[in-house]
Amino acid sequence: MMKITEQVVYVGVNDRTKHLFENLWPLPYGVSYNSYLVVDEKVALIDTVDAAFMPEYIEKIRSVLGERQPDYVIINHVEPDHSGALALLRTHFPEAKLVGNKKTAEMITGFYGVWREDDLIVADGDELQLGTHCLNFRIVPMVHWPETMVTYESTERILFSGDVFGCYGALNGAVMDKDMDTALYFKEMERYYSTILGKYAAPVEQALKKLSGLPIDIICSTHGPVWTEQADKAVGVYRRMAAGEAEHGLVVCYGSMYGHTRRVAEAVAEGAAAAGMKKIIMHDVSLSPLSDILADIYRYDTLALGAPTYNGDVFPKMDDLLRRLAARVVKNRRMGCFGGFTWAAQSVKKIMSANEQIGMTLVGDPVEWKQGVGEDTLEKARALGKQLAG
Ligand code: FEO
Repeated sequence: MMKITEQVVYVGVNDRTKHLFENLWPLPYGVSYNSYLVVDEKVALIDTVDAAFMPEYIEKIRSVLGERQPDYVIINHVEPDHSGALALLRTHFPEAKLVGNKKTAEMITGFYGVWREDDLIVADGDELQLGTHCLNFRIVPMVHWPETMVTYESTERILFSGDVFGCYGALNGAVMDKDMDTALYFKEMERYYSTILGKYAAPVEQALKKLSGLPIDIICSTHGPVWTEQADKAVGVYRRMAAGEAEHGLVVCYGSMYGHTRRVAEAVAEGAAAAGMKKIIMHDVSLSPLSDILADIYRYDTLALGAPTYNGDVFPKMDDLLRRLAARVVKNRRMGCFGGFTWAAQSVKKIMSANEQIGMTLVGDPVEWKQGVGEDTLEKARALGKQLAG
């Protein structure tokens, strides 16, 4: 039994076979779907798991409760990685009441049709007494869906935080941060925020503000380790990423078909390095996983984007990156750009036009060339790199 405290037990599962989270984002280290039991005079099951893990999940719950049933199932977030098990769960534990807000009830009805008349609809600030433990519900819309809420247990000062403070990475034996090396999870937290919550910076900041008055000793999110000793660090990562704070460093993202744009990208990096920039990351947008590119763009404060013109537009893989950036909030970034063409100059124009929505501060003049790359173009690229290093 994986105890978090004497009366709070971890009953989540590890998914080590899914290749892509949301069928989009690589999972090289898997992912956990976390679920918790609070065992008191009444029993609350907080968050559930992906439907594929139902037999193992029920076994884990029964190993803690025996023949007892949960009295309540708290649904902080309806996305199916946490609610997929609900319909079957109801057949195993028919006495348990679901607990969620008005939007939760609508979504559970919409997805599974299993919300009942006797289930509990809670509002922001409502409490549910379990015995010595008391659950307090705080609604935090759009972190990550409109119905999202968190549950605060005031006796043991535990925040069941839903997706927020979560990360990719299955749990390798231990569940709590104090019992493991957390380096991998903090790295995966950045990739998780970049891919899943990057659009919702304002709601994340509002949620952090709303929760800032609560004394919190333990954070039980829906993905990744339970945060105790390193709870402040986990909160810090989310605070920093939502605020747009970044390390000084340069991420050079380029698309290249025959090597011309790559040579210019190398020259931008050389110019930045010669000017003293130590942290320089190169990403070929056709080769690097998009989630790695996004995580690096969130980590560092400066970006160089370069691509050739392709079919009268910007190179498709760069177009994809630009669209993904436009669909996120990445604040306080500087950007330089470069691009080549054979007969119709489009790539620089398209990158600049996409940036009107992305909102990065343009540094230097874009470097643009026709057909082959000459020394004059490379020199301009080195000069751009130098400006970006500043
Ligand atoms: Fe882990 Fe937004 O669900």
